[in-house]
Amino acid sequence: MIASISNNLLAWYDIHARDLPWRQAPGSARPDDAAWPYRVWLSEVMLQQTTVAAVKPYFAKFLTLWPTVDALAAAADDDVLAAWAGLGYYSRARNLIKCARVVADRGGFPQTESELRQLPGLGDYTAAAVAAIAFGQRAVVVDANVERVVARLFAIDTPLPGARKAIRAAADTITPNKRAGDFAQALMDLGSHICTSRAPRCLLCPLHDDCEGRKSGEPERLPIKPARKAVPERYGAAFWITRKAGREVWLVTRPDTGMLGGMRALPDDGWTARRDGSGQPPLPGAWHTVGAVRHGFTHAHLTLEVRRLESRGENSPEMVGDGVWWPVSDIGEAGLATLFAKAAQIAIAVG
Ligand code: ADE
Repeated sequence: MIASISNNLLAWYDIHARDLPWRQAPGSARPDDAAWPYRVWLSEVMLQQTTVAAVKPYFAKFLTLWPTVDALAAAADDDVLAAWAGLGYYSRARNLIKCARVVADRGGFPQTESELRQLPGLGDYTAAAVAAIAFGQRAVVVDANVERVVARLFAIDTPLPGARKAIRAAADTITPNKRAGDFAQALMDLGSHICTSRAPRCLLCPLHDDCEGRKSGEPERLPIKPARKAVPERYGAAFWITRKAGREVWLVTRPDTGMLGGMRALPDDGWTARRDGSGQPPLPGAWHTVGAVRHGFTHAHLTLEVRRLESRGENSPEMVGDGVWWPVSDIGEAGLATLFAKAAQIAIAVG
């Protein structure tokens, strides 16, 4: 059964593999190109908690700006963070820069899973994925899609996250020695197209005959998820401070640590828990509230009021902190995280 699973899956992948910009065609040799591990690593970091559709334009942009790991290592932090803006989970971008510099210093990516795991930002998943896909090493690659496929295949019905150990062990038993990268990506494709969360298409599945979850009659029940915790609501205010009749806006750089660390942003009130959004503005003046932004983070939902002030000489933000006056017509190039890009849109729309 074990060999039939990997053989059937690889045969299916040979026909149905998605054509993705970071991929080789199924079964083909790894490219003889020093930048290949870089592209695999970059794509895997971008794909953490992010959809293929969202990643594609960012992957293309990064390769245009920084075609090799050495180029990325030499880039200015601000430029990389600005290029990442909109992709979310910004600690990934900060680790990306750190990792590129370590790799450039050591003259290239290490090839084993355990050495890859030591690099900044590479967790179990990414280290295994890069080892398998970039270097053809046998590695057990488990992301959320793979977790679902394997939990069903073996009818593992302990709830997550407790089930992870058993899922990994089961994935290990079906991982072949050859074509480890294709196998990992085949499981991902199966999970995203056939073995979907809600309505798995078991009749089209190459693992149909071996799947204990399907035999149970309720594959969609697996894996068993823990009860969802309520996500706390947070409230705050972002401040759109302009000069020159609204043509320039004051932008700050957030502290390196904490939410959206190191990113360029609108000044804000620290997202207090105050329900009325009456956070203290950084300057006195005739503030107007122009709207509010809703934004979902992993650990909180935020409602951010957008408040506006045209600054005059006597209440300039330059007197209370560091920042830059940015042309509003170029706000798209400021590298604002999505939350602040939405706030900017509201402030601009109000005129
Ligand atoms: N998600 C994470 N890595 C992926 C890959 N290599 N192909 C498709 N989806 C993915």
